[in-house]
Amino acid sequence: MYVCLCHAVTDRDIKQAVENGACTMRHLRDELKVATQCGRCAQCAKGCLNQALAER
Ligand code: FES
Repeated sequence: MYVCLCHAVTDRDIKQAVENGACTMRHLRDELKVATQCGRCAQCAKGCLNQALAER
């Protein structure tokens, strides 16, 4: 599922980033550029991040 349409970031990309050590939205922003354009995906991206962290 696409989380960020502006940068074509999927929930899998976020999961992968967390597996590679990302643990904050800042990391995701730096790594995937998620939520750096229109910002509409920020809430959803945070949800995916929290879920991926809980499953880690
Ligand atoms: Fe992610 Fe626009 S949808 S910045």
